[in-house]
Amino acid sequence: MTEIISSSDLHLYYGKKEALKGINLTLHKNELTTLIGPSGCGKSTFLRCLNRMNDLIPGVTINGSVLYHGEDIYSPKEDVVNLRKEIGMVFQQPNPFPFSIYENVAFGLRLKGEKNKKVIDEIVEKSLQKAAVWDDVKDKLHQSALGLSGGQQQRVCIARVLAVDPGVILLDEPTSALDPISTGKIEEMLFTLKENYSLVMVTHSMGQASRISDRTAFFLDGHLIEYNETKKIFINPKQKETEDYISGKFG
Ligand SMILES: Nc1ncnc2c1ncn2[C@@H]1O[C@H](COP(=O)(O)OP(=O)(O)OP(=O)(O)O)[C@@H](O)[C@H]1O
Ligand SMILES: [Mg+2]
Repeated sequence: MTEIISSSDLHLYYGKKEALKGINLTLHKNELTTLIGPSGCGKSTFLRCLNRMNDLIPGVTINGSVLYHGEDIYSPKEDVVNLRKEIGMVFQQPNPFPFSIYENVAFGLRLKGEKNKKVIDEIVEKSLQKAAVWDDVKDKLHQSALGLSGGQQQRVCIARVLAVDPGVILLDEPTSALDPISTGKIEEMLFTLKENYSLVMVTHSMGQASRISDRTAFFLDGHLIEYNETKKIFINPKQKETEDYISGKFG
């Protein structure tokens, strides 16, 4: 059991509104952690704190700390561009760039200054394979990514994150815009990615959380109510609010 990210007494304000009210949460390496809770409870806000995506929103104040491998990512020394490569993000709506499939996945490598075509070819192929979309796209790598189905686009977006060799992948409801078959493929893929990466995923699907995650954190109104191994959360929750939420009484 190794810690990879740890938040301590993390508070976040949008203007005067406190959206995170002191979150203490430690995420583990090579695990998939899911964040659950009703709409507006702060799941996406917390996820965005982990790679400083909230820095981009005007009027945000953040107190407390987030350690990645023991280093405070909010320290003034932090290289935020590098942090976002190390801790990559996948969004609810697939958001490929309006380029070819190949160029989408090569994007981060080109940004890093990689010029060797053979190296780029190899990483593009490997990343698309890991994202379980290689067979779908190998004969049309130079066609626009926008011509793919939503599920294929989402897997290309995951390949784009994998290509820069992150340690952690954040996913905000990555399958909620997709059909059940694409969702199943992505769940299977995320399950295998755990071997080499640490994953944090927001989901509204209790089924999805219990199928593929190791640990589950339940948020309510800016508080972390309960955090434990997924089976314990679903079979024997300690808090009444958790039980009510997972049994569908609210949210
Ligand atoms: N950019 C923003 N500016 C102001 N308030 C915001 C902003 N983003 C989120 N909030 C508020 O912060 C609270 C937490 O929002 P957040 O998006 O983190 O919730 P969530 O748990 O991800 O909800 P959902 O399940 O609907 O995605 C909500 O009250 C929301 O209205
Ligand atoms: Mg959200």
